[in-house]
Amino acid sequence: MIKELIISSPGRINLIGEHTDYNDGYVLPAAIDKRIYMRLSINGTKTTCRIKSKGFDTVLIADLFSLKPGTESWHNYVLGVLHELQLLTQGLKGFDCEMHTDVPVGSGVSSSAALECGLAYGLNELFELGLDNWQIIKLSQRAEHNFVGTKCGIMDQFSSVMGKKDHTMLLDCQSLEFEYIPTKLSPYVILMLNTNVTHNLATSGYNTRREESASGLKIVADHFGTKNSFRDISLEMIEECKAMLGDVRYKRCTYVLEENRRVLTAAEALKRNDLMALGEILYNSHKGQSQKYEVSCAELDFLVEFSKEFKEILGSRMVGGGFGGCTLNIIHEDAVEGYVERVSMAYEKTFGINLSHFVSVPSDGTTIIKQTNEAESK
Ligand code: GLA
Repeated sequence: MIKELIISSPGRINLIGEHTDYNDGYVLPAAIDKRIYMRLSINGTKTTCRIKSKGFDTVLIADLFSLKPGTESWHNYVLGVLHELQLLTQGLKGFDCEMHTDVPVGSGVSSSAALECGLAYGLNELFELGLDNWQIIKLSQRAEHNFVGTKCGIMDQFSSVMGKKDHTMLLDCQSLEFEYIPTKLSPYVILMLNTNVTHNLATSGYNTRREESASGLKIVADHFGTKNSFRDISLEMIEECKAMLGDVRYKRCTYVLEENRRVLTAAEALKRNDLMALGEILYNSHKGQSQKYEVSCAELDFLVEFSKEFKEILGSRMVGGGFGGCTLNIIHEDAVEGYVERVSMAYEKTFGINLSHFVSVPSDGTTIIKQTNEAESK
């Protein structure tokens, strides 16, 4: 029997395919080397769970029989996962958890999925609940819907669990089929620039975007009598419904189809190692996010524009839900240091905010890094 586990669960980046996951689309993400670490052990109680997060003074104490959303935001990710596990299995009992994270929070690299998936994965192992990876991915997504209130797609949880070192993943979010694409960009690297503007997806328009694109799709699908899926409509059909859609829904719907097309083109470029073409697509993607889906902000736009002056940077765009967080930049490895210095100065001068950065490497998904069994610990 397992007594104690240490779990490592990653955040994610997304090369391209933003706000397409909940719109029947494609995404091209990777798990990263920024991770959350959790020590999990059975505490011998029937229902008492004690969770301590480094950096917070208080310990979250939860009773498995009375789980409801709390007021502190990180609590809800934990409570939501416990709630979903309780609905799915009978095997959960009291446990202790200590965690610390190096995934920047609120930065568009999904610290939340790292937490949800790490906890779900770890408890599944600790209590031998018998869930498979897809069950872990989907229950973690439901935790976010039901306890946090963000109606997120599947990309983040999928990436955190399924990530593979040196690979991105082309995921079809409709069929859930996916393929690993080798992603060694050398001599280029993926530089993440963090605006340090924190967003809250639930309140900053994420759910609104989701509603706008869904209602736009329905207008077009109803008009043509097709299935209610972005896979079953075309840009021409959207064009024909332009007046019915109105400006906002028209922009949301065209963005989705264009971004889906860009993901597939980007995946092809990556496969033939055409990084120039990939970079160009990233710039176009950002333009769509900024002007059509309207999920960017002044700070992100500034960073993307700034990068265009540098030939060592092949492409740049915002990552994740938007309204702050990070830009992803494909940059020559020799240029990183000098560029970070210049862009940080310019950013601080314009916004009075410190820019932070990290270089990101496609990494493995959620894993056990240490396991102690009953007998061994005596
Ligand atoms: C957040 C959500 C994802 C996805 C992105 C935008 O990270 O959790 O499901 O929708 O935003 O692409």
